[in-house]
Amino acid sequence: MAFLSQTLATTILYLISSLTPVSAQSDNASGCSCYRTNGSSLGYFTSHRFLDYRNVSPAPLTIPSVISNPTSATNALASSDFFVGDAWTNFWTVQKFNNSDTRHSTDATALMVNSPSNVYIEKSQDSDPSYSTYLTLRTARLDDFQSAAEIDSIEKNFHFLSARFSARVVGSPGACAGMFTYLAGDTPQDVQEADIEILTEGPRNAVQYTNQPSVDTKGAVVPQATVNGTNPGGKDWTHWNVYRVDWMPGTTTWYVNGAKVANIDFQTPKDPAGLMVNMWSDGGSWTGNMSLHDQAYLQIQWIELAYNTSGPYTGSGARKRNEGYGSEGALVKRKGTPGCKAVCSVDEEINTTGTPALLWNNTSLAPLAWKGQGMGCLAWIPFLLVGAAVFGYF
Ligand SMILES: *[C@@H]1O[C@H](CO)[C@@H](O)[C@H](O)[C@H]1NC(C)=O
Ligand SMILES: *[C@@H]1O[C@H](CO)[C@@H](O)[C@H](O)[C@H]1NC(C)=O
Ligand SMILES: *[C@@H]1O[C@H](CO)[C@@H](O)[C@H](O)[C@H]1NC(C)=O
Ligand SMILES: *[C@@H]1O[C@H](CO)[C@@H](O)[C@H](O)[C@H]1NC(C)=O
Ligand SMILES: *[C@@H]1O[C@H](CO)[C@@H](O)[C@H](O)[C@H]1NC(C)=O
Ligand SMILES: *[C@@H]1O[C@H](CO)[C@@H](O)[C@H](O)[C@H]1NC(C)=O
Ligand SMILES: *[C@@H]1O[C@H](CO)[C@@H](O)[C@H](O)[C@H]1NC(C)=O
Ligand SMILES: *[C@@H]1O[C@H](CO)[C@@H](O)[C@H](O)[C@H]1NC(C)=O
Ligand SMILES: *[C@@H]1O[C@H](CO)[C@@H](O)[C@H](O)[C@H]1NC(C)=O
Repeated sequence: MAFLSQTLATTILYLISSLTPVSAQSDNASGCSCYRTNGSSLGYFTSHRFLDYRNVSPAPLTIPSVISNPTSATNALASSDFFVGDAWTNFWTVQKFNNSDTRHSTDATALMVNSPSNVYIEKSQDSDPSYSTYLTLRTARLDDFQSAAEIDSIEKNFHFLSARFSARVVGSPGACAGMFTYLAGDTPQDVQEADIEILTEGPRNAVQYTNQPSVDTKGAVVPQATVNGTNPGGKDWTHWNVYRVDWMPGTTTWYVNGAKVANIDFQTPKDPAGLMVNMWSDGGSWTGNMSLHDQAYLQIQWIELAYNTSGPYTGSGARKRNEGYGSEGALVKRKGTPGCKAVCSVDEEINTTGTPALLWNNTSLAPLAWKGQGMGCLAWIPFLLVGAAVFGYF
């Protein structure tokens, strides 16, 4: 270690951070070192996360009332204690932005205001005993504006993922429920997204899948960027379904209840991104225009993620402000990362939703025994060497 110059050490740290996922999330998979998904988009991921809203306790007794003043809606406090606790704030931020600055450059006909009062835990009235609560995102049309809901992940360095949402959409026409990866761009043409969108004015078995942007600079639809999917078995989106997006290198694949519904290679997002969920309308041509006092809801029981990361936790936009974050995180993590030896499934052999199942465990075998395992095992070797150098083992 002593003979390493500062610059070389920094370079090595950077190398480690660019290769190592910075994963600070808890998960339900103790002892698993990577996670395997199934289907034609099968992949291996180093991190797993299960966000469970099925039995939040204590369940709030009432649904927050709709706030009819746009400024008060923006400034609303969290709808219950759940949204100020770690289980929530470690992953999500509830949005308060409005569309006042973009509205006139789009075909929006309404002011849309995101309000924390539209993100709440709802006590289930369903007969299914496996859940007593779920997360609801609400949108409501008021006299002066459309009140909407959006939650964004704090972590913005997901770099390929398989995300599953147990969700349903209910309510009036004129709204769009979105579940998607998101990387902002300088112009609408530079945005990168892999989207699941449900339009409440559309047929109840239709779900739209898109690698954004889906319109060009002239506003014309880019047909290769989007698929109008039909739920397997014609299942209605007002019922609970599991929507899955596999954002993989060069291709995005979507599934509903385990069956493939769409695959798009065109314009697949390339760079690290965040995850977002929203329920919105701006009165424009995409969402439609909601009637006065109507409401619509996106309800979520749970979200399961298997993912890799690259770059700083809060995304590449934060790289300058937050220099070193990635390296530090990587260093801390590196000590405890055994490489991909205990492989767990998030699809096959699952007994408990959200708890990955061990497929094989070669932890006691030497790293070189990894050759030929299907997982990119060689990628770990530079790490072990570089890592050992950094920790002074050479
Ligand atoms: C998953 O982990 C969370 C904590 O991260 C815990 O509250 C929850 O009960 C676990 N769920 C299962 C199915 O093990
Ligand atoms: C795999 O084996 C190692 C060592 O034998 C053990 O520590 C780890 O918990 C095992 N992983 C799982 C998921 O069982
Ligand atoms: C993935 O595995 C699950 C559980 O066995 C199954 O229901 C689903 O159909 C599989 N999906 C694909 C695309 O193979
Ligand atoms: C909308 O957002 C802008 C900042 O982008 C803010 O100045 C304005 O007060 C907001 N309007 C409402 C009604 O919240
Ligand atoms: C998707 O296809 C259905 C059936 O043809 C149609 O009714 C619906 O409007 C389409 N959705 C979009 C967003 O084009
Ligand atoms: C949209 O709906 C609102 C509320 O019903 C109505 O006041 C408005 O005129 C509609 N706008 C358009 C462009 O249809
Ligand atoms: C799932 O349940 C089956 C049958 O009870 C059992 O053999 C298997 O070990 C369980 N798998 C896990 C991952 O717990
Ligand atoms: C890893 O474990 C699996 C399951 O026990 C076994 O089939 C495989 O041969 C092992 N891999 C190596 C490289 O030993
Ligand atoms: C995730 O990272 C592991 C370890 O670097 C790699 O083997 C795997 O292929 C990556 N998965 C994807 C989808 O890129």
